[in-house]
Amino acid sequence: MNNIQSEKPEKVKPLKMPLTGTIKVPADKSISHRAAMFAALTHDEVKITNFSTGGDCRSTLSVLEQLGVEVTYLTQNNIIISSKNGLKEPANVLDAGNSGTTIRLMTGILAGMDFYSVLTGDDSLRSRPMARVISPIRQMGANIWAKCNDTKAPISIKGAKLSGIAYDSAASSAQVKSAILLAGLSAEGVTSITEPFKSRDHTERLLSYLDADIRIENNKVEIKKSCLTPKPITIPGDISSAAFFLAAGAIVPDSEIVIKNIGLNPTRTGIIDILKRMGAQIEIFNQKLECGEEVGDFRINYSNLKGITIEEDIIPRIIDELPIIAVAATQAEGTTVIKGAHDLRHKESDRIKAVCSELTKFGANIQETSDGFIIQGKTKLKGNCVLESYHDHRIAMACYVAGLIADNPVEIKDFSWVNISFPEFIQTFEKLIF
Ligand code: S3P
Repeated sequence: MNNIQSEKPEKVKPLKMPLTGTIKVPADKSISHRAAMFAALTHDEVKITNFSTGGDCRSTLSVLEQLGVEVTYLTQNNIIISSKNGLKEPANVLDAGNSGTTIRLMTGILAGMDFYSVLTGDDSLRSRPMARVISPIRQMGANIWAKCNDTKAPISIKGAKLSGIAYDSAASSAQVKSAILLAGLSAEGVTSITEPFKSRDHTERLLSYLDADIRIENNKVEIKKSCLTPKPITIPGDISSAAFFLAAGAIVPDSEIVIKNIGLNPTRTGIIDILKRMGAQIEIFNQKLECGEEVGDFRINYSNLKGITIEEDIIPRIIDELPIIAVAATQAEGTTVIKGAHDLRHKESDRIKAVCSELTKFGANIQETSDGFIIQGKTKLKGNCVLESYHDHRIAMACYVAGLIADNPVEIKDFSWVNISFPEFIQTFEKLIF
């Protein structure tokens, strides 16, 4: 998918006009992964409507196929998952590609299966921390080993009979929480996890929708061994993809963008709260509930933004939006401070380093800190530079938006990494330019 060797850098020209019109973005990546995995645990057929077109979710589907699950494409984003015979031992190593959600959640699922499997991924994924899932699942009785003293993929799993634990997590990570809950789905007794701040709760909502025995109380989730009921699943648009258009609408003069059918799960809407605190005009309408998730449409208008301080408590709700929030902050009057985002160093790239180095090339006034950054605005971005994507979809898309408001054209290397979450990214922007 990412033909890095021969790829020409993407050229972005300064935009001399507002962004106006109505768009859709691909289905939520986090929910798509979970929909496919949980459907595969029903031992039946499940239709998934509006499945993500991104590469990460295709990695989940191919891992499931190697485990004996049948995937039928009705269209590019409407699929049927058929798992009548359950999961079986794979013939080969399972490749999660670039996807942290695939490898961590599948570790939870495979730990309780009665067969051997090995999960791996690309260079980025094999350098990301895995002890955060391996260690608690081992406490549940799993047989798991991994590279670098059990901290990095490949992860090798010999399925075992698991027992529930009460896990007090130091991190607020939905991937850790979900891996433990999925191991808990096949474990004897009660499994619980408590986290400092509530991370995205798509696992809890979808497992509840599929009738799992799950209870939620503030930041604690408890699960018991359960069978899942096969039910059709419809997935809303991804607010993390919409975030690039929300920010662009707020900073490109005279813009007005409507984005349809976006997930409004409160554990994901931090981007709305942050942009509103910065002074953006955002309206939400046509709200409804679908498969346990809130959904609605957004209207965003260009506004004069001001700098704000972003503290640790909201970070789990904006973790994937921080690169584009940094771009918006360069156009805000005053200082924007982002604190408590250490985990940003362990994403598809070190996003603190990547954001600071690429926005500095644009002439932004940005300072790197150990757990975030400090941006002094408002700065006219200069352009005339070649930007690195760090093989990270969200860094590539953040650089693209910065390029639209720069004085001069820019080039972005290895831009096709946007395919990880948003293959239609450029075409969607083109719809807003007349
Ligand atoms: C995700 C959780 C977050 C997020 C990632 C998707 C998920 O990661 O950054 O893009 O689908 O559960 P962490 O759990 O590591 O915070």
